[in-house]
Amino acid sequence: AKERTFIAVKPDGVQRGLVSDIISRFERRGYKLVGLKLLVPSVGLAKEHYADLSSKPFFAGLVDYMTNGKAPVVGMVWEGPAVIKQGRVMLGATDPKAAGPGTIRGDYCLTIGRNICHGSDSAESAQKEIELWFGGRGEVVDWASN
Ligand code: CMP
Repeated sequence: AKERTFIAVKPDGVQRGLVSDIISRFERRGYKLVGLKLLVPSVGLAKEHYADLSSKPFFAGLVDYMTNGKAPVVGMVWEGPAVIKQGRVMLGATDPKAAGPGTIRGDYCLTIGRNICHGSDSAESAQKEIELWFGGRGEVVDWASN
């Protein structure tokens, strides 16, 4: 089966002009872009997306940050071999202080609450997040492989 993951450029990444760089890294690696949208997510979408973190002290701030509209989110679905795991490797550690050079977070940020991007952390999360962000008909495009 084709492996797919959900990758998002969060508002700080869009604000800082890093969308093209992040897309470029996945393209050059050889992954295939099969879903792409720019949006200010609803509070409901953000809460569902981060449902696992609902008990955390930073949850309300995280949801506000994602949804306040100061900058939008770019949501993407990428397809290819081991893309769930390798996508996380390319993003770098969630806490940018621990992210290595050559990773997106390791190259561009230092603060966990402003870590530029998100990637699904498991097959289950990928399935849930793709459905949540790209659940509408035709929003993920099956196109021919190389
Ligand atoms: P992300 O990869 O989107 O997954 C969960 C997000 O929660 C994470 O990136 C951070 O943006 C945010 N997060 C995790 N831990 C903290 C924290 N201690 N303080 C603020 N935000 C956090």
